[in-house]
Amino acid sequence: MSVHKEVKRVTTNVLKEMKAAGAKISMLTGYDFSMAKIIDDAGIDIILVGDSASNVMAGHETTLPITLDQMIYHASSVVRGAKRALVVVDMPFGSYQGNSKEALSNAIRIMKESGGHGVKLEGGSEIIESIKRILTAGIPVMGHLGLTPQSIYKFGTYVVRAKEEEEAIRLIEDAKALEEAGCFAIVLEKIPAKLAKKVAESVSIPIIGIGAGGHVDGQVLVIHDMLGINNEFNPRFLRKYNNLYEQMKSSIEKYVEDVRRGDFPNEKESY
Ligand code: KIV
Repeated sequence: MSVHKEVKRVTTNVLKEMKAAGAKISMLTGYDFSMAKIIDDAGIDIILVGDSASNVMAGHETTLPITLDQMIYHASSVVRGAKRALVVVDMPFGSYQGNSKEALSNAIRIMKESGGHGVKLEGGSEIIESIKRILTAGIPVMGHLGLTPQSIYKFGTYVVRAKEEEEAIRLIEDAKALEEAGCFAIVLEKIPAKLAKKVAESVSIPIIGIGAGGHVDGQVLVIHDMLGINNEFNPRFLRKYNNLYEQMKSSIEKYVEDVRRGDFPNEKESY
């Protein structure tokens, strides 16, 4: 749709217009300069500096260990590579749940030190005070409901959330509360497609899904998963657009072989 092509920098207003026009929003995670540049050049609308960096960049089992300083490091690298996309930065576990003043000062650190354009927080009514306070400073906030990986030890599993009516009703109420507080968009992770559709129809802000079906306003995936760099993660919702694990491995194997055979460098590759 025309909304895409004319924009110099995607803003929260552009995203609102896209929802109103029925134009789907594309979002991918990014964690470093080089990858951010490729993602941005490909025309993505939003780059999320996800705390999934804890998994795919640092090798942790969960998103809990990543620190605020580490998120700022990843985010500042992404910002330098992104000319068009809106860059949203995950607030890491422990940086906003304690109290709203701490949440605000941590969000300000992210904005000042990384140059990101907004922050994402996981949760609904239980963190609404933090969200409201961050918004008072003019910092755009994206919500995140459904499966919220920072609460993995409470859930105990990564299975689909909100299948039961009680949790589904609470999720819709939370989405409305986030909209009313002033969030510019919400990520919905791993919930039934029917429920996600209902949420998208219940609020005027964009709903970005991951494992939430096609009847929402946009989609997000973890870049390492969709490129097949991570070959051990194969959930039903994931579409793999490449098998970079195999491609990268075989390139590196060839290099190792060339070095061992004395074939690299050759005359043309030498001074
Ligand atoms: O950290 C992350 O990558 C995320 C996405 C899965 C939405 O929050």
